[in-house]
Amino acid sequence: MRPQGPVMRLNSCHNFHDFRRMAKSRLPGPIFDYIDGGADDEDTYRRNTTAFDACDLIPNVLRGVGDIDMSVTVMGQKLAMPVYCSPTALQRLFHHRGERAVAAAAGKFGTMFGVSSLGTVSLEEARRLSGGPQVYQFYFHKDRGLNRAMMARAKEAGIQVMMLTVDSITGGNRERDKRTGFSIPFRLTLGGMMQFALKPTWAINYAIHESFKLPQLDGHVDMGGGALSISRYFTEMLDPSMSWDDVAAMVREWGGQFCLKGVMSVEDAKRAVEIGCTGIILSNHGGRQLDGSRTAFDQLAEIVDAVGDRIDVIMDGGVQRGTHVLKALSVGAKAVGLGRYYLFPLAAAGQEGVERALELMRTEIERDMRLMGCASIDQLSRQNLRFS
Ligand SMILES: Cc1cc2nc3c(=O)[nH]c(=O)nc-3n(C[C@H](O)[C@H](O)[C@H](O)COP(=O)(O)O)c2cc1C
Repeated sequence: MRPQGPVMRLNSCHNFHDFRRMAKSRLPGPIFDYIDGGADDEDTYRRNTTAFDACDLIPNVLRGVGDIDMSVTVMGQKLAMPVYCSPTALQRLFHHRGERAVAAAAGKFGTMFGVSSLGTVSLEEARRLSGGPQVYQFYFHKDRGLNRAMMARAKEAGIQVMMLTVDSITGGNRERDKRTGFSIPFRLTLGGMMQFALKPTWAINYAIHESFKLPQLDGHVDMGGGALSISRYFTEMLDPSMSWDDVAAMVREWGGQFCLKGVMSVEDAKRAVEIGCTGIILSNHGGRQLDGSRTAFDQLAEIVDAVGDRIDVIMDGGVQRGTHVLKALSVGAKAVGLGRYYLFPLAAAGQEGVERALELMRTEIERDMRLMGCASIDQLSRQNLRFS
């Protein structure tokens, strides 16, 4: 019998590109483009992955790599694998279980996952489902009371790590979204609407499951298009004048693991140490914000050398392979964030898809560590790398 149905198709996904193709076949075009797209000419988005090509791995042999331990400890959290699911917005649009699917899958693999301020499941519910360490990603609002209330809510929910995203004081220029009219609430162009009509299965699933919500922003963003759209949330509620002093006050108030996502310069990395952050994530937001900005991988060595002994340095962007992860860890990253790597599988097959993607990543990392002659992550070093 010819294999049929989603499970068989999922089994035929062996890498990022397979999942991306499967997600594309299932999602309405505007939603696929929202995930897949970057800012301006998407140069940074493309370079995020090709940056890894300029770095060669040099394996060691005959080193007795029987048991492989790929666990890491980052920002006080023990992760069974050195990758985690970085916070991303609007997951309910990609699959009707949204963040629930990602939280449960990450928990099964003993790794961390992040809930976005623009998440479609409440951080409390995600916390119950995950079991693993959880990050709450938030933005800095003009309303200081709201910032304090969000931190108090996160503390109450048992969130282990606060993550303030600092590269998004304004939205990136995502031209694919402009062409399709993708926005929240939807304001689709005629072409965008027709692409929804071509994916009735997605539309039925969207319609029969619970309605779309942004529970982290309850009462602040109106999905009906009345009070505040997401773009107005960014322009009206977030504070572009946020300063290091403001963030230092938040770090003190939180009093636990606190990291900044989107730090790229040595100067900023040093400031993050000074104000008491315990982690920084080198990131260009998956190429979705400032096009032309450097890739996190290219910038990693400089930052690790400057502050790596005082703060946990993490990176994300363009990671699609176990070898990408090993290269970043060899340079000195403590862990690596995944974005589209788990979002396409989520769109393709929900929790099962994310689990398969994490399983493939775990298998690749294990095999690659063996081939590199490393039984544990601390055996990876720059001696195993050459840059062209
Ligand atoms: C669809 C999508 C939504 C995202 N939403 C957020 C968000 O709400 N907050 C945030 O800090 N980063 C967000 N990011 C950035 C990711 O956390 C991460 O930095 C990025 O995806 C890494 O690049 P990669 O997708 O190439 O792995 C988003 C990324 C994507 C693709």
